[in-house]
Amino acid sequence: MQNELILWYQENKRDFPWRHTNDPYKIWISEIMLQQTTTEAVIPYYLRFMDTYDNVQSLAQAQEEDVYKLWEGLGYYRRAKYLCISAKMIEDDFHGEFPKNYEEVLKLKGVGTYTAGAICSIAYGIEVPAIDGNVLRIMARYYGLKDNIALNTTQKQIYTLTAHLIKGYNASMFNQGLMDLGAMVCTQRPKCHICPINKHCLAYQQNLQNILPINIKNIKKTNHYYITGIITYNQQYLLIKNTSGLLENLYGFIQYECESPYTFMELFEQEYHHSLSLISYVKEVKHTFTHRKWIMHVYHFVLNNPIDHLYTLEDIYQIPMSTAHQKVLKAYLKADD
Ligand code: ADE
Repeated sequence: MQNELILWYQENKRDFPWRHTNDPYKIWISEIMLQQTTTEAVIPYYLRFMDTYDNVQSLAQAQEEDVYKLWEGLGYYRRAKYLCISAKMIEDDFHGEFPKNYEEVLKLKGVGTYTAGAICSIAYGIEVPAIDGNVLRIMARYYGLKDNIALNTTQKQIYTLTAHLIKGYNASMFNQGLMDLGAMVCTQRPKCHICPINKHCLAYQQNLQNILPINIKNIKKTNHYYITGIITYNQQYLLIKNTSGLLENLYGFIQYECESPYTFMELFEQEYHHSLSLISYVKEVKHTFTHRKWIMHVYHFVLNNPIDHLYTLEDIYQIPMSTAHQKVLKAYLKADD
């Protein structure tokens, strides 16, 4: 199956900008961007990133805020922070040279087993698997596995099977062949008639391709209800930089998990020692993250006196802001005109 997969990859591979290089730095950036993000969304971000920082040294010397600004809209912002940390690590601990083996690549912040496997196989040809959800699905079908692929034990079993398959083959093409097979053929509703490895696939032989994989996750999204305040003073907006949590380093409006704009005003006064006047209700804005959902009731308040951290709209467009609060601002600006 390895040869058939690799031949198929050579003839059918998708064309991506990060597939025109062997530079481990560039492959690293692309793989970090591709974590939890579609290839289509990544392409423009990757190209802009390479226009600005095309080597480790330039990234290590970058202002973190500038990197966050380039990342704005891509989501999972911790990735941008980890890139900056890792670039400095490469400068300091690896003498400015990108690490050359799996164990060292795995030491970079934000790089887990999948990403280390992808970087090492693509940049160096190291025979190590890169197992993500797509590969779990392909392998569960290929080997006719009826175990739940959401379980660690099943994932370990699939890792062992795949590590065995890759030995002695072109690891870059094997892993990227699986990525493309997962994206184009062995999809949720698989197109088995055009699959290069259908002859060997146990699920296909047993007509289980629409049943497998078994993938039962027990993740609940928790709802968080906020009053979100667009707080203005003389056409300027109050924004606070998050110092921790989900949206660390991004700017946003002030919000409290409370049930009334009047409670919001009390909480604000306690925290900032400034008073507000309530102007209007804007609208409800929702935003979904991986494990949680924000339901934000947006109100417009004005400050009775000036305060620090006020920004004009022009400033705001230069500042990294969470997608959730960009939606809030948009809703406010739309309601205003
Ligand atoms: N998803 C994760 N890594 C990828 C890559 N190198 N090419 C295409 N899709 C990917």
